[in-house]
Amino acid sequence: MLSEEVTIHDVARIARVSPSTVSNVLNGRTERMRPETSERVRRAIKQLGYAPNQAARQLKTGFVPVIGLIVPSVANPFWGAFARSVEKAALAAGYQVLLCNGERDPEREQRYAESLWSRGIRGVIFGSSPVSFDHLLGLSERGLQVVAFDRQAQRADQVGFDSISVDNELGARLAANYLVTLGHHRIGFLSGPIRTVNRLKRLEGFRAALEDASVPFDEQLIWEGALSSSFGDIEGTDIGRVAARDLLSRPNRPTALFAINDMYAFGAYAGARDLGLRIPHDVSVVGFDDIVLAEIVDPPLTTIRQPLEPMMQAAVKLLIGRLEETRTGSPEHTMVTPELIVRGSTARISARD
Ligand code: RIB
Repeated sequence: MLSEEVTIHDVARIARVSPSTVSNVLNGRTERMRPETSERVRRAIKQLGYAPNQAARQLKTGFVPVIGLIVPSVANPFWGAFARSVEKAALAAGYQVLLCNGERDPEREQRYAESLWSRGIRGVIFGSSPVSFDHLLGLSERGLQVVAFDRQAQRADQVGFDSISVDNELGARLAANYLVTLGHHRIGFLSGPIRTVNRLKRLEGFRAALEDASVPFDEQLIWEGALSSSFGDIEGTDIGRVAARDLLSRPNRPTALFAINDMYAFGAYAGARDLGLRIPHDVSVVGFDDIVLAEIVDPPLTTIRQPLEPMMQAAVKLLIGRLEETRTGSPEHTMVTPELIVRGSTARISARD
């Protein structure tokens, strides 16, 4: 056989291993491999005359070892950490990552997905949690594999993708429940437009926690930002600041704020400071995500941690399994448990007196 005709799948078959094991041998990642396995792979490569010339391989098979990553915007450090975790897991499996900021705009996301497809990229990790995936329907029919982050399957979905997310509802429940146990009954909910599945889930969890504790739910304390096209991914701190200023300057102001993510929470710090209020003495604040800055702001932010590294390892594994056809069958949905991280931005309500 000529080397261009041989694919990684042929080598994997002969060596009785997965294509990613072949890729690991090719890239010298054999530390965690049994010596017999790597030796078998090397023998199969030699026997078949396999030459992993990327360009020739791409021309012949159309296979490109690259994963597309579409996130809202790396202006929020959450998505920077997210991209880094995806890259780390992808590189370890012999894939590279191509990053796109989709701004949660379905047209832009679709254009990016089309462009990735036209470069031979067949798998995408998708971070924007849209209410519908209809804009990816055509590409999915052509064979695009997607792992959706932060978006469980919805009843109305026309297309079924694998998904992985933190339990957003539980995360918001943990946050609200903690504030209630500290004696807070008037809690503001700070968000941009609540039009994504993850935000809807967080609002549901927030509301459920209040109901469980028989604390009246007050619509007036749900601050949703301007209903513009923006979701506040880039201007989260600005929106959080305006929201906090608005809620905290009302006569019967809330004693605590739960922000949809840490960037909004940092904005709330600025809003409280603008009004001369101290955190947590005058108002407690809880965020969501546990981004790298949460620990070093003053006071350190109480927040809900999303365990990004293990989640992205699982997402990449799932996607590569689909691409290399070691994983077939119905979409898989993984839900990961979030964790409440208590720091200095929250206190008992009595601390205000
Ligand atoms: O901060 C970015 C947020 O967007 C994260 O909470 C992530 O879960 C998504 O909702």
